[in-house]
Amino acid sequence: MDKPKVVLGVSGGIAAYKACELLRRLTESGHDVRVVPTESALHFVGAATWSALSGHPVSTEVWSDVHEVPHVRIGQEADLVVVAPATADMLAKAAHGLADDLLTNTLLTARCPVVLAPAMHTEMWEHPATQENVATLRRRGAVVIEPAVGRLTGVDTGKGRLPEPGEIFEVCRRVLARGAVVPDLAGRHVVVSAGGTREPLDPVRFLGNRSSGKQGYALARTAAARGARVTLIAANTALPDPAGVDVVPVGTAVQLREAVLKAAADADAVVMAAAVADFRPAVYAAGKIKKKDSQDPEPITLVRNPDILAEISTERARSGQVIVGFAAETDDVLVNGRTKLERKGCDLLVVNEVGERKTFGSEENEAIVLGADGSETPVPYGPKEALAETVWDLVTHRLA
Ligand code: CTP
Repeated sequence: MDKPKVVLGVSGGIAAYKACELLRRLTESGHDVRVVPTESALHFVGAATWSALSGHPVSTEVWSDVHEVPHVRIGQEADLVVVAPATADMLAKAAHGLADDLLTNTLLTARCPVVLAPAMHTEMWEHPATQENVATLRRRGAVVIEPAVGRLTGVDTGKGRLPEPGEIFEVCRRVLARGAVVPDLAGRHVVVSAGGTREPLDPVRFLGNRSSGKQGYALARTAAARGARVTLIAANTALPDPAGVDVVPVGTAVQLREAVLKAAADADAVVMAAAVADFRPAVYAAGKIKKKDSQDPEPITLVRNPDILAEISTERARSGQVIVGFAAETDDVLVNGRTKLERKGCDLLVVNEVGERKTFGSEENEAIVLGADGSETPVPYGPKEALAETVWDLVTHRLA
């Protein structure tokens, strides 16, 4: 089989050097990559580097090899176009359909999925002109990856960093695997909660659980690759931020509730993958609880936490919003799952049978997704990404 053809567009920003790593990952994983830099990109990384790493000639304008009509052919033949970094100028040109060099021509002639990974200073990213261009591109079906927050060129920090090449590569891999030209979650805002809440007893101790957050992160990552704007509410996780996802860190169930309610206000779908503590200590000791010799330990009194899933399901922020819950069951999985689905009032409930090999923190999962409409979708034992894709399939079906 022919290798999938990827066009790596590089526009003129300091993050161009990170595109070399992305190029390496793409070629080493069996993709035929043609690099199309802009003239300004070559100020940062020279044509020789792109050519040597990709094994193809490199040109920035349409006047080389004119007999091969490169300004049309490169775009037409591509299975994926990814632009990393995409500068504010590149986003503006792409949104307005300008075609004054080889890369912008390629973007106009491409009929395959397009991934854009913007990188620029925070002010440029936040400018209404850029935001409107991004919204236009997303509406048309391009996957625009949200920039990361961190150190920018020079000493300043903020939103605008190019996500790590490995993360951009993951988005490309997923977009290519789906092959859909217009991603099915384009223009949608989805909220995912992940991890496990911690309920403090005193400044050093808490009641918590062993949820790693991996399933929630897989949901966030796959939704971003399907074109959604994603808010990931992460409770006590230690995982790298997925590319293109807004991460809101929280600690307790009460903080998780606040963050979910805020993000859900304009969301098309909410997936509650977080393990939320049902109870919290009634009293928080401002100072560390000390043991006293010859005295039995004090019992811990607990009070109930709000049931966030039930609350957002019964008082929907928007009509047509799709709400998904998760449940772990040890026995009578289907019966208990159905009862829980009804009690919570959500549209879908992903029921995990917890058993010996299905431990917290593992890379795999197995589940049945129950629908309020009576449907049952079994998901065989496999990567958490596969379960995530099934959840989004069921969500997009309901959104449509
Ligand atoms: N959930 C929530 N708020 C809570 C508790 C749970 O939103 N206070 C959500 C979780 O994010 C998950 C689902 O509800 O989506 C799990 O429901 P829960 O009743 O907590 O499941 P189990 O812990 O399996 O329940 P039970 O103890 O009743 O078996």
